[in-house]
Amino acid sequence: AEAAAGESSLTFPPLPHSYDANSHVADGYEIQTLIRWGDPVVAGAPEFDPMNQSAAAQAKQFGYNNDFVAFMPLPVGSKTPDHGLLCVNHEYTNPHLMFPGIADGDIESLSKEQVDIEMAAHGHAVVEIKREGNTWQVVKDSPLNRRMTALETEFELTGPAAGTDRAKTKADPSGTKVIGTVNNCAGGKTPWGTILFAEENFHGYFWGNPEATAEAENYKRLGLGKARYAWGKFHDRFNVDKEPNEPNRFGWMVEYDPYDPTSTPKKRTTLGRFKHEGATTVLNKDGRVVVYAGDDQRFEYVYRFITKGTYNPDDRAANMGLLDEGTLSVARFNEDGSIDWLPLVHGNGPLTAENGFKDQADVMIDVRKAADLMGATPMDRPEDVEPNPVNGIIYAMMTNNTKRKADDLNVVNDRAANRHGHVVEIIPPGTAADGNGAEADHTADRYTWDIFLKAGNPAKPEDGALYGGDVGENGWLSCPDNVAFDSKGRIWIATDGGPKSGIADGVWAADVTGPARAVTRRFYACPQGAELCGPEFTPDDGAYFAAVQHPGDEKGSTFDNPSTRWPDFADNMPPRPAVQVVVKKGGGAIG
Ligand code: FEO
Ligand code: CA
Ligand code: CA
Ligand code: CA
Repeated sequence: AEAAAGESSLTFPPLPHSYDANSHVADGYEIQTLIRWGDPVVAGAPEFDPMNQSAAAQAKQFGYNNDFVAFMPLPVGSKTPDHGLLCVNHEYTNPHLMFPGIADGDIESLSKEQVDIEMAAHGHAVVEIKREGNTWQVVKDSPLNRRMTALETEFELTGPAAGTDRAKTKADPSGTKVIGTVNNCAGGKTPWGTILFAEENFHGYFWGNPEATAEAENYKRLGLGKARYAWGKFHDRFNVDKEPNEPNRFGWMVEYDPYDPTSTPKKRTTLGRFKHEGATTVLNKDGRVVVYAGDDQRFEYVYRFITKGTYNPDDRAANMGLLDEGTLSVARFNEDGSIDWLPLVHGNGPLTAENGFKDQADVMIDVRKAADLMGATPMDRPEDVEPNPVNGIIYAMMTNNTKRKADDLNVVNDRAANRHGHVVEIIPPGTAADGNGAEADHTADRYTWDIFLKAGNPAKPEDGALYGGDVGENGWLSCPDNVAFDSKGRIWIATDGGPKSGIADGVWAADVTGPARAVTRRFYACPQGAELCGPEFTPDDGAYFAAVQHPGDEKGSTFDNPSTRWPDFADNMPPRPAVQVVVKKGGGAIG
């Protein structure tokens, strides 16, 4: 039904703010826990036993800190709403919540087996799921179920940086075969049914002295130097004193085919090397595929990639190498409301040997330096950057930037000490706010931009919040991180940082056009200590997937004495990161 004047198209009642041990959803909806850390994934996996964990078991079980979630219908290419593959990232580990007797920040006490468990708890999972009636379940022992880990999965480097001397190691003289993936944050899906997943904060995994390597400038730009994990103690490849080039093999976007459990995942070096939050795709009207991505660090950039070739809807295999050739650009936001996309191509402007770029491999490895030289606009931590399939406009989450100084503002990042973050609209020519997505030109050199909202509490003038109208007591949010669109093109924003303002993280929805544009309404709330990741819907909007990351991760909370035992609430169970599914009571579309 059309919304009345001044009204939102959303029909669910606002969920009140909370901060407690459990997750919550708006009245009229039901939460089901679908899969938790330690649940069996591949055939032969044992049940989770928190006091007797092993790396061998973890490598077959659901990993830790679920982040990105994709629902991929079965069979491939269909829009089946009730049966598919759930593809999930496992971003990082919290040893003090995973193992008994480990204090927060104590990496010294971890054994090799515990380190290997952490490595096996990183990566990615594929799980076949099915709806029976209104209840979702994992298909146990499905041959399509899969785990990828930091411990043992082999990845192939492809594109311009594959095989370059700077990617060669003692263990891999070819410079093309990498063991493991780390810090897999958000991701995306391609029109041909593959998954993209990000390697984000990879700098924190490496031991040794980066300044003593030939890559000192590169590693400094990416923040290597202080290891947050004990991996380098037991695995030479995570120690730059022993393998000085290994960090050049991380920080990429991975593409893999979830429908083929034996497929080798590829690190696509055409998409550049930085702290990828994720990458989302859109099929342009001329058949080329366009990828949008953010580099999640303070004062880093927004990127766009355009394939050289075009998508072939009739030959899935022909699309598998599309992301290996094309042009990466970085965004400059201008005072007059325009955006220029600046191509990061060897030989273009300052991207020459004189400045340290002898070829395109160098540009892709040192892409931040290339973007600096091109004059890109430093942003307030770009997290998800995602096209709305209905109106073709790209919504970019700037999560926050408390280091932004009053004398260092720019047109699109205009709040000093930005605690709450904001959402930017990146507008290709041909779009209209109320829906004209098919006419968008995602290959244009020049776009425009607008501010969708500025997060924060409108009751506190010092927050400088800006919404499309009155969001009420519970409609305000803080620190937008991940985003999804339902099939009506409404925006669903998941947050990471609410607890710093006394509210649980969760998801908020809003119209993007009409009288209630940017009037956010709270739908789902995390348990305490958690952030919310991976908003995702089934093609019929009948199910919403909520990835709850690091529940109970707050001051003083440990495995032995956690602040919540969500979602099991059993005395012998620690808090467990988990994916929950939300359905409407009695069935039907969400929202
Ligand atoms: Fe892993 Fe940018 O959040
Ligand atoms: Ca995260
Ligand atoms: Ca994130
Ligand atoms: Ca975040």
